[in-house]
Amino acid sequence: MKIGFVSSEVYPFTKTGGLADVSGALGKYLGENGFDIRIITPLYAQSIVRTKDFHPVDFLQGLSMTFNHRTLYYSVYTSTLPGSSTFVYFIDCPELYHRESIYTNHQDEYIRFGLLNRAAIEIFQYMNWSPHIIHCNDWQSALIPLYLKTLYKWDKLFKNTRTLLTLHNVGYHGNFPLQVVHELGFTDFMPLLDDYDTRQGRFNFLKTGVIYADMLSTVSKTYAREIQTAEYGHGLEAMLSYRNQRLVGIVNGVDYSEWNPETDREICKNYGPDTLHLKAENKACLLNELKMPYHFHQPVVGMVGRLVEQKGIDLVMEVMEKVLEENTFQLIVLGSGEEHYERYMYGLQARNPEKVFFYSGYNNSLAHKIEAGSDIFLMPSRYEPCGLNQIYSLKYGTIPVVRRTGGLADTVKAYDWQTQQGTGFVFEHYDGAGLKWALEHALSTYNHQEAWRNIQKQAISEDFSWEKQVREYIGLYKKIVQMG
Ligand code: ADP
Ligand code: GLC
Repeated sequence: MKIGFVSSEVYPFTKTGGLADVSGALGKYLGENGFDIRIITPLYAQSIVRTKDFHPVDFLQGLSMTFNHRTLYYSVYTSTLPGSSTFVYFIDCPELYHRESIYTNHQDEYIRFGLLNRAAIEIFQYMNWSPHIIHCNDWQSALIPLYLKTLYKWDKLFKNTRTLLTLHNVGYHGNFPLQVVHELGFTDFMPLLDDYDTRQGRFNFLKTGVIYADMLSTVSKTYAREIQTAEYGHGLEAMLSYRNQRLVGIVNGVDYSEWNPETDREICKNYGPDTLHLKAENKACLLNELKMPYHFHQPVVGMVGRLVEQKGIDLVMEVMEKVLEENTFQLIVLGSGEEHYERYMYGLQARNPEKVFFYSGYNNSLAHKIEAGSDIFLMPSRYEPCGLNQIYSLKYGTIPVVRRTGGLADTVKAYDWQTQQGTGFVFEHYDGAGLKWALEHALSTYNHQEAWRNIQKQAISEDFSWEKQVREYIGLYKKIVQMG
């Protein structure tokens, strides 16, 4: 089966979050399962393409594309995904992709990703390659379904091509003033655009994808249900419920060749289910690296992630000072994001220098060290389509404290004192009291060594491998093709 896979970030070349991990891993595992999968992604100034086989594709050089009056030139480079035979095609258009960050607030953001959508289709045309499915991801590639029904409808190459749009995060829409539709090439197709948005003078990439993709998926079963409600739908709930027969939830896998304490090369001391006591060495190592005092009996709580509202940072702000005051533990936070959250983290660190460490920025190696060196992993998200860090944490025996939402609800089993079953600590309502209760419950359970080991053993034996999860995508692809 031929799958065109379009994504704005692909690990290990470009990454701001979980979308990159999923794109890279799914590409690799589908390739291993005999799929002809071709990944299309932009070549940003920030992309790291140090693979040996990175090279220009000779018949895809000096191509052009016109958006109304603006003509853009681009060329295509290729490389395989490391350790895999899956090809990635990079769209090199410096005018659009050499900016100070991967995503911007620039006025032409819609062209930056408009090009990704159209170039993906045109690259397949140049290759004379007829994909069974084009798998789109998030708003940045959500226009492909509509393009195939309009501008590229004439091309028989796509006669049997179906589209799948995976919603990794319904909170980001790609919402622009209506005028952009002329540049994007939809002037003759206005009646096909969402009527409500058109009347509001807006054009929404993600909503357009939700309307026109043949199939929709999201990254956990709970999130698939949640996004059909006003609380989580970010205004798309009506359209998503209308299309719910075409919406499925598939929890993300984890690439255990990257995230496994038994083989992880970033951490001080490898360990596994039978050598959990070696975690302490990783804790000592982590604290030493951060120039923090190390206390054998004190738990370390880790947090890694984008510092945005989605991740529940407001709840941390509400209660952390008090939790630190009333309990004995250290907190290590790695993340970057909104300025007021970063300011808060710096302040918390300044007031509690022995107890709190904040690293602002992106640091993959430190992310691994925090997973290995922490005892507890905190993820109190307001919403979480899937979440990867809590799944990594399970494998590292780093017990997650999470809110029961989206993928967190589907991957962490609440610990029950009576039955002694569970893999983490879970709170229900999005409020500070809930977070405080769950974190303190985890901190007090940590003192019961035997109970803690038992939770760690259950956590570490959970299996969210892509070998397993990829089968769900294969099943979905087959279903889409059979739908005709
Ligand atoms: P999201 O995609 O919403 O950001 P996920 O939990 O799905 O959340 O994935 C986040 C991914 O990005 C994980 O692989 C995590 O380790 C990584 N990550 C997030 N922030 C940082 C950071 N500051 N430094 C290093 N890695 C990070
Ligand atoms: C998004 C979500 C996250 C998910 C990731 C990969 O960025 O916020 O929950 O794990 O995409 O699907």
